[in-house]
Amino acid sequence: MILVTGGAGFIGANFVLDWLARSDEPILNLDLLTYAGNLETLAALRGDARHVFVQGDICDRALVDRLLADYRPRAIVHFAAESHVDRSIHGPAAFVRTNVEGTFTLLEAARTYCATLEAGMQAAFRFLHISTDEVYGSLGPQDPPFAETKTYEPNSPYSASKAASDHLVRAWHHTYGLPVLTTNCSNNYGPWQFPEKLISLVIVNALAGKPLPVYGDGLNVRDWLYVTDHCRAIREVLARGTPGETYNVGGWNEKTNIDVVRTICTLLDELRPSPEGGYARLITHVTDRPGHDRRYAIDARKIERELGWRPAETFETGIRKTVQWYLDNPQWIADVQSGAYRDWVAANYGDRGQGA
Ligand code: NAD
Ligand code: DAU
Repeated sequence: MILVTGGAGFIGANFVLDWLARSDEPILNLDLLTYAGNLETLAALRGDARHVFVQGDICDRALVDRLLADYRPRAIVHFAAESHVDRSIHGPAAFVRTNVEGTFTLLEAARTYCATLEAGMQAAFRFLHISTDEVYGSLGPQDPPFAETKTYEPNSPYSASKAASDHLVRAWHHTYGLPVLTTNCSNNYGPWQFPEKLISLVIVNALAGKPLPVYGDGLNVRDWLYVTDHCRAIREVLARGTPGETYNVGGWNEKTNIDVVRTICTLLDELRPSPEGGYARLITHVTDRPGHDRRYAIDARKIERELGWRPAETFETGIRKTVQWYLDNPQWIADVQSGAYRDWVAANYGDRGQGA
């Protein structure tokens, strides 16, 4: 069995579904079910004994200790986090709590648990920490993509909290010998992404005939990775990564935000034409995000060289699948757009003036 934290969120749930589609090794899924956690995403696993779901907080040491003692997992795959940069600007406290204190709590629990294991199981135990490329800071137009050796220069409360958690993970290996692995991944997109991040928000807004908010001049660059490619990278790192090492994961897909939004509009024009006219008419430049990082790009050669991983999807294949998935799942979209979602939209976009 493996323990997955945050397995009801976007990437975690995709990982759980993918894992159980390929293996009968059970998953213990610990998730607090914040606004971002959604058991509907895991509906296909109802009644499946291979998936044990526990609603709980990674900051709750007694709970984590009990789960480790009762289920004796061979690995922890740690996704649980506050993950949205804009929310971290509005309210950073939850990010420090879950991302820093929560990771600390898991590391301490894992260290104690590991010491109770017999030698063979102890040697095989792994703590895989899922992190982000945002810890490296922002690139200029001519800078080389982020390698694993890049200095950390986090700029947002979100990325600073993730950087802090990465440092804790590193220290628990260096000082206590905990067999940790860290992945630093670029922007993910795909099915079941809560509609607060750029791609999911733009698809959902376009289908509702609402403005498509583009921050600033729309020329910020992100390196997009289809979520199942990320899930496969995590499986490879868990199976064959070297403890203490970090692995950058990216899609080799640098795009400006405005290009991404226009691509989505073009796909929707083809797949769900609107009687009102092309979806690009909804594009609205709004006031920029404070401290907005200009460019991220990942050098994913280490994971390719050492573990043979490369993304299978191009941006063109992945974004088409993604748009089609949202078209095919209107009920899932309706269900996540709860009252809390509407409050967030009002808080983040309500007083954003028209921008560049
Ligand atoms: P998400 O926000 O969709 O999901 C986070 C999950 O964690 C939710 O299910 C939530 O309920 C759970 N959670 C939050 N606080 C918790 C707590 N205190 N205890 C237990 N569970 C808690 O996030 P995501 O996009 O799936 O990201 C997953 C991980 O991958 C995060 O660590 C994030 O930093 C990292 N990451 C995300 C991306 C991306 O593009 N989304 C890219 C690189 C890395
Ligand atoms: O790089 C990996 C990171 O990618 C992950 O660690 C984070 O968890 C994830 O949220 C994501 O962070 P970003 O800030 O890059 O993603 P987001 O989808 O919020 O924004 C992508 C780009 O689009 C960014 O330049 C801001 C812009 N944007 C975003 C939103 C929500 C807009 O222009 N309009 C919007 O409404």
